[in-house]
Amino acid sequence: MSYETLLTESRGAVALVTLNRPKALNALNSTVMAELADALAGFGKDETVGAIVLTGCEKAFAAGADIKEMQGIDFVDAYLGDFIFGWEAIASVRKPMIAAVSGFALGGGCELAMMCDVIIASETAKFGQPEITLGVIPGMGGSQRLTRAIGKAKAMDLVLTGRMMDAAEAERAGLVSRIVPAERLMDEALEAAAKIAAFPRAAVLMAKEAVNRSFEATLSEGLRFERRLFHSLFATADQKEGMAAFIEKRKPEFSNR
Ligand code: HXC
Repeated sequence: MSYETLLTESRGAVALVTLNRPKALNALNSTVMAELADALAGFGKDETVGAIVLTGCEKAFAAGADIKEMQGIDFVDAYLGDFIFGWEAIASVRKPMIAAVSGFALGGGCELAMMCDVIIASETAKFGQPEITLGVIPGMGGSQRLTRAIGKAKAMDLVLTGRMMDAAEAERAGLVSRIVPAERLMDEALEAAAKIAAFPRAAVLMAKEAVNRSFEATLSEGLRFERRLFHSLFATADQKEGMAAFIEKRKPEFSNR
């Protein structure tokens, strides 16, 4: 597929999606959101793809929702148009998504990174929810996902003051999975995605589903959910292969069955 605001490619079992509005620091306008939802849905259905890397440009992963597009919207437009609809489709992709973040990940950009499962950040990354400085608040899940990721104290600090945190602070706070030197960012993200994509697909999807369940369920419900998924994996050929290969001291050959 070719898009106006994205570059997409498959590299083996990994899909790479690059936000491509560098002059606007990858501000998320309605075209970006629609194209992103379309591209991710396509890779979600593509059986050759096992994991997805989402990235931006060197200066910005994404500097937020497009302020120029938002400026003229009134309440009725926002409400009736369910602005900014469509991001749920991005957050509900079943395959693992890695955000490779360089530069600014602000507002909707930070929220987009948080919709991914793993955030790998360059040393240059800066995260923040500066919506308050524009007279609004996070609208794509920031007040909820950021709080779950880094706790109330830091989330309140960021959301109320609009300040940015650098990669080191974001990692200490638990938002970022790994920090790497800028020149290693894409290799590290693509290697991690390739590693994930080579594992049995059903186990990978269930692992993601189980971890995400912890945000929705009580501990006892989450543990029960995990156990049911765990049990179900013993019905797969890949469980037999993975365990046999370990015992026979050889590399497993997974079939995604
Ligand atoms: C539209 C944006 C933009 C944005 C940057 N640009 N961010 N355009 N929407 N969010 C544009 C600028 O207008 C400028 O275009 C070009 O990108 C380069 O930006 P500069 O400001 O010149 O760069 P710099 O001085 O390096 O500053 C970088 C920055 C700053 C600190 C990231 O651009 C900034 O503060 N951006 C806004 C960040 C923000 O408030 N994000 C939250 C948005 S609200 P021109 O044409 O002038 O050269 C949000 C709500 C989410 O995300 C919820 C949705 C429902």
